Amino acid sequence: MLKDDAENISGRIAEADALIVGAPTYASSIPGQMKTLIDRGHFVMEQLLHGKYTLSIATYENADGGAVIKSLNKLFLYSGAVLCGNLCIKTGFNTNPLDLRSTRDRVRRQTEKLCRMIRKKKKGNALLRVIHHVVFHIGIRPFVKKHQRKFAGVIAHWRDRGIVHDAV
Ligand SMILES: Cc1cc2nc3c(=O)[nH]c(=O)nc-3n(C[C@H](O)[C@H](O)[C@H](O)COP(=O)(O)O)c2cc1C
Repeated sequence: MLKDDAENISGRIAEADALIVGAPTYASSIPGQMKTLIDRGHFVMEQLLHGKYTLSIATYENADGGAVIKSLNKLFLYSGAVLCGNLCIKTGFNTNPLDLRSTRDRVRRQTEKLCRMIRKKKKGNALLRVIHHVVFHIGIRPFVKKHQRKFAGVIAHWRDRGIVHDAV
């Protein structure tokens, strides 16, 4: 096991009720540091965001903030999260996007919605739940079952979190 910040970060995410991820748009995509964290593999295989409420935020200057939102939302969905919303914020380099009152209002609305969904224990969009069900039960779960020995840690994580109850 690699001993780096990814272990600490994923441990803290596992204990949280919600996750808000904000990222700038670099070269039409998510920044390299974010991709490195994702590629460490905790999110999707472990279903790290199972039942957690998420909000994605992207800043951009010219174009492709939507691509960052799309990447984050796909990561959240495939990792088992309840997607609560997103914010795509146009802003200049080295400026604070919260200087703009309209941006502060959008942030407030989205975070209030996130809190409401947590309080009411909302299950989220039905179509997204179906998509996750298919991805997990037809894609990820059979793959892990086939390579059970290699994925003993992942299976233990699923059982601990109540993601699977019976044999994998
Ligand atoms: C290396 C680099 C690449 C960037 N690429 C894009 C881009 O493809 N599209 C865009 O709209 N803005 C791009 N920007 C602008 C940033 O997205 C924008 O300034 C950013 O959201 C500010 O975030 P930061 O101050 O946290 O880096 C880029 C900025 C940098 C430094």
